[in-house]
Amino acid sequence: MSLSPAFLDELRARTLLSAVVSPSVKLIRAGREWKACCPFHNEKTPSFTVNDAKGFYHCFGCGAHGDAIRFLTDNRGLPFMDAVKELASKAGLEVPAPDPKARERAERTSTLTDVMASCQKWFAEQLGGIEGAEAREYLKNRGIDPGTVARFGIGLAPEGRSKLKSALNSLGEDKLVETGMLIRNDEGETYDRFRGRLMIPIRDARGRVIAFGGRILGPGEPKYLNSPDTPLFDKGRTLYNIDRASPASRQAKRLIVVEGYMDVIALDRAGVAEAVAPNGTAVTEHQLERMWRLDPNPILCFDGDSAGQKAAIRAASRALPFLGAERTLRFVELPAGQDPDDVVRNGGRDALEALLSEPEPLVERLWRHEREAQPLTTPEARAGLRQRLIEHAQAIGDHALSRLYREEWLRRFQGEVTPPRPAFQPRRPFQPGQRGRFVPPKPPAGPAARAIAATGIDRTMARALVLGFTNYPQALVEHCEQLATLPIGEQSLARLRDKLVDAAVSGETLDRETLATILAASGAASDLEKARRTGTMAFSFTRSDTAPDRAVRDLGIAIDALMADGEIGAALKAATERLKEGDEDALEEQRRLHLARRDNNERLASLAGSE
Ligand code: UTP
Ligand code: MN
Repeated sequence: MSLSPAFLDELRARTLLSAVVSPSVKLIRAGREWKACCPFHNEKTPSFTVNDAKGFYHCFGCGAHGDAIRFLTDNRGLPFMDAVKELASKAGLEVPAPDPKARERAERTSTLTDVMASCQKWFAEQLGGIEGAEAREYLKNRGIDPGTVARFGIGLAPEGRSKLKSALNSLGEDKLVETGMLIRNDEGETYDRFRGRLMIPIRDARGRVIAFGGRILGPGEPKYLNSPDTPLFDKGRTLYNIDRASPASRQAKRLIVVEGYMDVIALDRAGVAEAVAPNGTAVTEHQLERMWRLDPNPILCFDGDSAGQKAAIRAASRALPFLGAERTLRFVELPAGQDPDDVVRNGGRDALEALLSEPEPLVERLWRHEREAQPLTTPEARAGLRQRLIEHAQAIGDHALSRLYREEWLRRFQGEVTPPRPAFQPRRPFQPGQRGRFVPPKPPAGPAARAIAATGIDRTMARALVLGFTNYPQALVEHCEQLATLPIGEQSLARLRDKLVDAAVSGETLDRETLATILAASGAASDLEKARRTGTMAFSFTRSDTAPDRAVRDLGIAIDALMADGEIGAALKAATERLKEGDEDALEEQRRLHLARRDNNERLASLAGSE
């Protein structure tokens, strides 16, 4: 009895693999996966992993690999149908009765692939024959050697309306129409779809020819004519070269996605077999799924023109809802006007590898795209950028990841739009002539102020700030992005901060009471209690007797200063590195930054000291 692939897919989708495995194997959580000692071989340290998202188990020790059905047949020794029945009853699915139509369909499909195989063979013969001279010349000019022609099964559809039709009529006219090899017009006449084109077979994952891409020999439109969608071929679900790229990507531990047939072929010629192409469509969700099954982090290497880069960005956006630890994308931008084929032709594999060695992660690529969209000279432009970044982050389905993207992008945004803060500019700018006469600024008065000035911004400060925001929700909404990215070491305080940020973005109108209710409901009470108990310095915003305007203003100054401190710290580190490398200017930079830091601390200290 044959079960339809759709039914089996549904069954797998409704089955939680770990629940199938766990009665016989003790599973331990490991991030998004489960680990265990392998039930298929004898071992003491776990190398058996179960991935619920993918529905596969895999043992790195013995190579055992499979889905839920396979686990039941191999581990429990059930016959295939019994395994299916057991899973189906658990999943609440009915095992379909033997379906004569399904069998018929399966038989028909197999005859259709036979038809395609015959066509491919015939095209290849035409390329080798007398009529193939021009095409062979074309291939030679493109540097495609006979070995490559054979590996990819390239052939030729000769000129003329009925060459294939008459040569292959024994396959049956209807079948040739159904596979898209013949076109039937309104009058019922049939004729060859592909004429005078180089024929590139598109194969499925099992290596069966399911469609063709036909390239015109020389100029003309369309450059490529592709098979229409047929019972065998669904363009949006197909990746060109998947059958060869699948084993190659496992070995190379990477997958490269290029735009076109010729790019795949050029890469292969250069020794890079792990490449696929999306058949000239915008990358679809299904194609992303297929890529991720081969590699968690495919490298998109699209043409170095605006169309190619637009396609890359579109792919990035399309991927957002599905991103996860094992599902992301990387990007390589090629030199202007070049495609991967050109890169290999001009610079060989080395040039290609050089580009592939520094791919941009998705987070960077989208940031760069949005950042470069327009100059940030107006508030409107800045607001637009910020909005687009937030929307991209919101498109990410994985909640935790969405949040991390948002934080990262807003941090970059902040760095971009914040004009150098006064804190960065020492009030007494250091002049080159002053070298050696550097006079440190006087520390501010008051014990709290002196402590800040001496040790920089510490956890007491962070605590004061977080408490301040619980007191003044109006400031919270305004500074929520900054607060979200503030590095906080103390765990309970960071938790509290996260809940504050959640409340701020919840859309609720926040007054002190509403916020208190939200915090209590989110289980923040004990963290809040702890922060209050630990005590803090007296700032306007931590005391109950301050005028709200004043407290809100001070909160703004304080968080600005805290953020600036982080940036100064990073800049100082960089300057120190440069100094080590012998960059003399870095010394001056260092002094300037030290001054800036003191200055910044002074600002904070003045807040702490003030009544
Ligand atoms: P390209 O024009 O970049 O093709 O289109 P290419 O592979 O580099 O081809 P050469 O080097 O000019 O021969 C990228 C892909 O878009 C699809 C094809 O899949 C092509 O490989 N395409 C392009 C079409 O389907 N139809 C077209 O008319 C053009
Ligand atoms: Mn090309």
